[in-house]
Amino acid sequence: MNLCAVILAAGHGKRMNSSKPKVLHEVLGKPMVQHVIDTVNELKPKKLVIVVGNKAEEVKTGINNKPAIFIKQKRLLGTGNALLEVKKSLKGLKNCTTIVLSGDSPLITSKTLKSFLKSHRKDRNDISFLSFTNESLKGYGRVLRNKYGNVTGIIEEIHVSKNKKSFLRELNSGIYAIESKIMTYLDKLKKHMPSGEYYLTDIVSIASNAGKKVEAYNCSFEEAMGINTRAELHNVSEILNKKIISKWMSKGVTFLDPSSTIVHPLAIIGKDSVIYPNSCLEGNTKIGRECTVYPGARIYNSIIEQGATIKDNSVIENSLVGRNSTVGPLAHLRPGSSIGRNVKIGNFVELKQATIGDNTNISHLSYIGDAIIGKNVNIGAGTITCNYDGHRKHITTIETGSFIGTDSQLIAPVKIGKGAYIAAGSTITKDVPAGALAISRVKQENLKGWGRKKQLRVKSEKSKVISGKK
Ligand code: UD1
Ligand code: CA
Repeated sequence: MNLCAVILAAGHGKRMNSSKPKVLHEVLGKPMVQHVIDTVNELKPKKLVIVVGNKAEEVKTGINNKPAIFIKQKRLLGTGNALLEVKKSLKGLKNCTTIVLSGDSPLITSKTLKSFLKSHRKDRNDISFLSFTNESLKGYGRVLRNKYGNVTGIIEEIHVSKNKKSFLRELNSGIYAIESKIMTYLDKLKKHMPSGEYYLTDIVSIASNAGKKVEAYNCSFEEAMGINTRAELHNVSEILNKKIISKWMSKGVTFLDPSSTIVHPLAIIGKDSVIYPNSCLEGNTKIGRECTVYPGARIYNSIIEQGATIKDNSVIENSLVGRNSTVGPLAHLRPGSSIGRNVKIGNFVELKQATIGDNTNISHLSYIGDAIIGKNVNIGAGTITCNYDGHRKHITTIETGSFIGTDSQLIAPVKIGKGAYIAAGSTITKDVPAGALAISRVKQENLKGWGRKKQLRVKSEKSKVISGKK
C-alpha cells in the first residue's frame, strides 16, 4: 500500500504568545515539527507534504527535510482547510493512504504509527485516528461514540456543554489515516463560528454518516500530547527528557538528579558514567564509559572519551576530550578543541581551536586559541596565546615537553621548540629553538635602603601635621 504523509504546520500558534512560529519552538534542542518529520520519515512515505502558512519562509528554512513538498495554506482557515489545500494541489494523493499529523505533537513514535497503520489496514477502515484518555488535559477534541461503541464523530472542546464534558473522556490526538476516497469529503466541511475555521475533525462524522468504516485506536497520552502553550511546551519536553534518561539508566548510567538533567535525543552515554545534577548533554554528544560529569556542565556536540571527568560548570562545544582527561571546574572548550589523553585542563581555562597532546597540563587561568600543543607540555597559570592581530588569527605551536612559565604571552605566529623553557612573565615574539630558555622581561633592579628611607620621610611628615607646623 502507498503511504503519503501530511504534516500540518501552518497555524498561528497564538497561544504561545511568541514572535517565533510555534512549530519552530524547540523540544530538547530540536524544533517540535522536526521531531514529527523525523518520526514520519521512519515510515518511508512515498510523499511527505508539509503545510506552511504563518511565517512560511521562516518555517521552511528552520526545518531540515529537503525532499519534502511544501504547500502554502493561503488563508489560515483551520485544519480542515489545510488538508483541502493539499488535496487541491496534489493529485498524487489519490492512490495513497494519507497519514495526517500535527506539527505541534512531537512525542509520537514511529512504533505507534506503524502499529496504527497496521490496524487501519487490517480492519480495512476508510478513516482511522489515534485517541487517548487523560482527565487533566484541556483543549482537545472529544470522541463521540454511539451506544454500540462505534465512532460517530469528534466534537471540539469549546462546543461541548459543561455537563457533557465528564462523559466524553476519549480525546483526539490529531493523527489520522485517511483513504483517498474519503478526501472528497473535505469539500463538505462547514465553517465553525466564532473562529470561521473548517475543522478536519468533522470529516469523521461526515464519513460515519455516509456509512464509511471509521475507527479510533488508543495510544498513550505521553505520545499524543500536543503543544499549544508554553506550559505544554515544558510538559512535553519533560516527558521526552524523562523517557531518554530512563533509557540511559537502563543501559547502566547513573543520574544523581534526573529532574534537573537534560539529555537530548541524539546524545549517547556509556555504561557506568555518572551524571550529576544541572548538567546538559546536548546535540550529538557522546560520553564514553566510566565518565563523570559534575554539576552544571553543558556539553554540546562533543565527544568525551572513556574515564574522562568534566568538573563543575564547564562548557564544552564541538570538541573532543580524550581518555582519562579532566576538564574544569569552570573551563570553556570552544569549538574545534581537541584534547588528548590524561590531559588536565583546570579552572578558568579557555581553549579555542586548540589541539592538546597527551599528558599536557593547562591547570589555571589561561587562554589557548588557534594552537597546536604537543605531549607532556606544562602551561603555567596566566599563559595567553595572543592569536589575533586585529585582522587575522595566527597559530601558536608548542612542541613536546616544553615548559611555559606562568604569566607568559605568546605573540602568534610563534613556535616553541621541543623541550624549550619560557621564563615566567615573558612576552615571546620570536620562535624559540628546541631546548632553549627564552626570557623576555625587564631586568630587575633592587634599590638598597629605599623602603626604609621612605618610611622615615612619611613619619616625619605625619609628626609635622600633628604639631601644627607646615
Ligand atoms: C486539534 C484538533 C483537536 C485535537 C488536537 C490534538 C481540529 C479542529 N482540532 O486542535 O481535535 O484534539 O488538535 O492536538 O483539528 N494548522 C494549520 N492550518 C490552520 C490551523 C492549524 O496548518 O489553519 C496546524 C497547526 O500549525 C498545528 C495543527 O494544525 O500544527 C493543529 O492546529 P491547532 O490549532 O493546534 O489545533 P488544536 O486546537 O490543538
Ligand atoms: Ca494543537
